[in-house]
Amino acid sequence: MLENTRHTETLIVGGGIIGCAIAYELAKSGRQTLVIEKHTLGSQSTRAGAGMLGAQVEMHAPGPMYDLGVQSRALFPALREELIELSGIDMELQTPGIFRVAVDESDRLDLLERQRWQTEHGQRAIWFEDEDLRRELGDLVSTGHGALYLPDDHQVRNPQFLLALAASAKRLGTQYLEHTAMTGFLLERGSVVGVKTLDGDIRADQVVLATGAWTGLLANQLELDLPIYPVKGQSFLLDAYGPPTPFTIYTHGCYILPKRNGQIYVGATEEQAGFDRRPVLRSLASLSSRAVELMPSLGGLPFAEPLAGLRPGSADGLPFLGKVEGLGGLFVASGHFRNGVLLSAITGKVMAELMNGQELSVDLTPFAVERKIRIS
Ligand code: GLY
Repeated sequence: MLENTRHTETLIVGGGIIGCAIAYELAKSGRQTLVIEKHTLGSQSTRAGAGMLGAQVEMHAPGPMYDLGVQSRALFPALREELIELSGIDMELQTPGIFRVAVDESDRLDLLERQRWQTEHGQRAIWFEDEDLRRELGDLVSTGHGALYLPDDHQVRNPQFLLALAASAKRLGTQYLEHTAMTGFLLERGSVVGVKTLDGDIRADQVVLATGAWTGLLANQLELDLPIYPVKGQSFLLDAYGPPTPFTIYTHGCYILPKRNGQIYVGATEEQAGFDRRPVLRSLASLSSRAVELMPSLGGLPFAEPLAGLRPGSADGLPFLGKVEGLGGLFVASGHFRNGVLLSAITGKVMAELMNGQELSVDLTPFAVERKIRIS
């Protein structure tokens, strides 16, 4: 129980990968930071997510989201080294790349078009016809329409990455309060000066909402219309005791990631189910069928556990990153949808720059909070 009102320079609400990445970057700059989390750190969509750094595989068109993803992906090798140095924990970055397997002729044409614009934008994107694919993967993967190989799309192991960020930030002074849900905002003279929790008030010079799919609900308390909503994703882990391939295999509605601990991650559905994040048999059954169709050898592997989480979807598919204009003290970093892990590195960096009044390494105009919200 908190006996007195606490005070911190910066309060981050939400201890997922985004909140922890911001906390880490703020801690590096010496800012006193407290993270509150309603459950335990990384226990929501961070835990359910695949950990794909799919700056190319996840983006269907050039634009600000693509640029942000590519910029963020490039930060991971150095970030990994930093976090190992500080915490001894390895995020398990794996770099063999991703094969995006075409499911039919129209998908093939879409992927060839994607190869064209991504190559024009300076990225590596290599087309494999079926015979080339068989030379690389043998008969592991069902093919028929070729595949786009993206050698620079990587993956990490989410729970390890979260731990590495949290432990490194803690080492630099960040504090955490788990099982501490915010129940309201503290407002004074038109500014947010902290939050209420069941354990007492927490006052802060700056408050950051890094609350994923719940951000829209919290913003409603301030009569802010922030169109962020839950998009459920269900996945599962298989025990493989060693990867069948080092590559991530990705196709329409299904992807397969070999993990460093010998498990295989199979994801993911996209569903509108409100805030219910329980795994559902029908979804897991149809995902399993797709996975076995794509990689038949998965069919005999033991099932380790189902995973389900709520992605923070946004109305225009872009995250909200920045200050809330007209309400002093409040910042938002949310709405990363399918790319929270990929975008965590750049989000932490640019939010810390913004909050420290430094020059920004990203133009935040396309991600401005005001582009959608109305202050009524
Ligand atoms: N990044 C993959 C997903 O959200 O399913």
